[in-house]
Amino acid sequence: KTPSTFLNVNGSAHQVQAEPDTPLLYILRNDLELNGPKFGCGLGECGACTVLVDGVAARSCVVPIKNVIGHEITTLEGLGSPEVPGPVQQAFIDKQGAQCGYCLNGMIMTIQALLNRTPHPTEQQIRQELKYNLCRCGTHMEIMEAALLAVE
Ligand code: FES
Repeated sequence: KTPSTFLNVNGSAHQVQAEPDTPLLYILRNDLELNGPKFGCGLGECGACTVLVDGVAARSCVVPIKNVIGHEITTLEGLGSPEVPGPVQQAFIDKQGAQCGYCLNGMIMTIQALLNRTPHPTEQQIRQELKYNLCRCGTHMEIMEAALLAVE
């Protein structure tokens, strides 16, 4: 029988039935229908699947659910809504920081994680933080503009 457990996502407890080694990303997208986090590489290398675990950025494609039981998971959906976007989300809208948009979940969640521990980061700190988030369209200029607006 598949084990059952509870995950705390975006402020609510969700019961999920899955093996303990199931990647968190699969549960978020397939079971909880939270499609903010994206499946890019599945290897922890591109950043598209980034979520926050206790406010810290984590690559959910390589985090087994057994590691996050009892922790607070936040997805892109937890930062705001289409009606009321969060400040980082709003900055990306204002600066039109998307081309295909696939990487943006990771960009936004990574900047949010940076802000959680460094409320006033420098441009250098932002660049350092986003260094391992891949964007294949080459929208880096707009992403940086949005990031700078977000931390203002
Ligand atoms: Fe998780 Fe690429 S999909 S890091």
